[in-house]
Amino acid sequence: MTIKRIVTTAFILACGAGSAALIYAWQPALPPIAPPSPTGFDASEVRYGADLALIGDCRTCHTAPGGRTFAGGLAMPTPFGTIYSTNITPDARTGIGQWSLEAFTRAMREGVDREGRHLYPAFPYDHFSLTTDVDMKALYAFLMTRDPIVAEAPANDLPFPINVRLVLAGWKLLFFHPARYTTDPTHDDIWNRGRYLVEGLAHCGACHTPRNFMGAETRSEDYAGGEVEGWSAFPLGRLSPAPIPWTEDALNHYLREGWQAHHGVALGPMRPVVENLAEAPAQDVAAMAHYLASLGATAGPSVQIPTVSPDASGQRPQSAGWQAAISTPAAGGPIGRAIFSAACASCHLSERPLPLGGVDLALSTSLSASTPQNLLDIVLNGVPASDGNPALIMPGFAGSMTNATLASLLTFLRVEVAGKSAWPDLPAAVAAARKAASPPIHVRATR
Ligand code: HEC
Ligand code: HEC
Ligand code: HEC
Repeated sequence: MTIKRIVTTAFILACGAGSAALIYAWQPALPPIAPPSPTGFDASEVRYGADLALIGDCRTCHTAPGGRTFAGGLAMPTPFGTIYSTNITPDARTGIGQWSLEAFTRAMREGVDREGRHLYPAFPYDHFSLTTDVDMKALYAFLMTRDPIVAEAPANDLPFPINVRLVLAGWKLLFFHPARYTTDPTHDDIWNRGRYLVEGLAHCGACHTPRNFMGAETRSEDYAGGEVEGWSAFPLGRLSPAPIPWTEDALNHYLREGWQAHHGVALGPMRPVVENLAEAPAQDVAAMAHYLASLGATAGPSVQIPTVSPDASGQRPQSAGWQAAISTPAAGGPIGRAIFSAACASCHLSERPLPLGGVDLALSTSLSASTPQNLLDIVLNGVPASDGNPALIMPGFAGSMTNATLASLLTFLRVEVAGKSAWPDLPAAVAAARKAASPPIHVRATR
């Protein structure tokens, strides 16, 4: 009797939990609409939407290499498998032409497509959910006035059970807490605008915040540094390992121009971000820099570089202190020092101003960061010329340096130049970076 009752109770509880989960998991399809006429939208709203789309990096993720802008199909490698971005042009069949503003808003805020299917968080709706109604409407107006392009996204390459979209309901229940932006009255309008954009559309934390084993951002460690496409997205704010602490002006310059004299050039997955922000409204970028600077202008334990001129506006600053190490024997190993003198010094000590000259490597966060990932990606692949910056060139050394040579060079840079203790497991990191081949510059999407 008692056992029967326990079993029955357990059964009822299980059914209850199951249906609660299903009710949460189930989302209705929203009715299709006839694609709206592009002339039906207000021109200034479309322009504002274009600015927001730049801040949100929509074209970066929704354009495949060599493909049409916003037509989707970009392969996004994740630790779980490959997810392809979708076509967000207003084509009725393969794009979002039949999506109402309501359906678009639901996708951006709740991660559910028009037909009611859950979307993968590779689409950063956990940030986009903050977006206001006004901004949502402008983004919709911008997308609905693009050329409709017929393009079907390739099927995702994900293992069971992650390939079952219903499973995402469980993930969302655990990790997705949609919220709307609330103004913080203790700060001014510029700070609030910056925070709204950084936390929301600009989704900076999607790369700069570490993720847990289920791929969700660890909110208690905001901006503590993340990993993306074989690159380290360095910690920002008070945990920044930059040798010279980031200031509001430096952040503004870096985000706007893609380089900064005391810090170097934005490469890897950060590069498309700065290319988009270069076209975004200057006051929005300035607001983001203002907010970011408030997260802690002081860097972590930093290398003392006393000879750097504080007001190097465009001119490349000097850090002569360590350069003596090239001519004196020291712990980094004479081989590493010799390689640096032969292969790197001509550019990186040339005093040619950024972004065309190489930065004094003592200033580069890639030497003082907790992993050698970015330094390896850059040295192996070099910095090829790109559309925007034809003269930004450094040769790749993948073909001319053995793993042992690279390890000696990196140890010299880390210990002698950055003044830090050697990276552990350097040989393994060198081998992994060579295999991954994560180039510093990707094919560039146009608006
Ligand atoms: C970091 C990459 C990334 C960025 C940035 C991004 N998206 Fe996406 N987006 C995706 C991926 C991947 C999907 C597909 C998710 C899936 O299939 O579950 C997607 C799906 C969508 C969808 C649903 C489309 C459909 O057919 O289901 C919409 C709408 C969308 N994105 C709009 C936007 C807008 C607007 C922006 C800019 C504000 C943007 N995205 C920025 C990666 C991104
Ligand atoms: C797609 C991933 C991605 C996104 C989104 C992203 N970042 Fe980055 N960020 C990176 C990577 C990777 C680096 C390292 C680049 C390098 O080594 O040149 C980086 C570097 C930086 C740096 C330089 C740090 C240093 O000490 O050198 C700053 C500042 C920065 N990002 C700010 C931002 C801000 C602000 C946003 C949002 C507007 C943002 N990032 C969005 C990936 C990203
Ligand atoms: C032909 C000139 C040239 C040579 C040789 C060269 N570099 Fe570069 N390097 C550049 C330029 C230009 C950049 C882009 C500007 C910048 O970031 O300093 C760059 C960027 C870098 C960066 C990114 C710095 C940052 O944070 O912005 C690193 C790290 C780097 N180089 C390391 C090396 C190493 C190590 C060697 C030797 C094995 C080397 N480079 C050889 C020209 C060169």
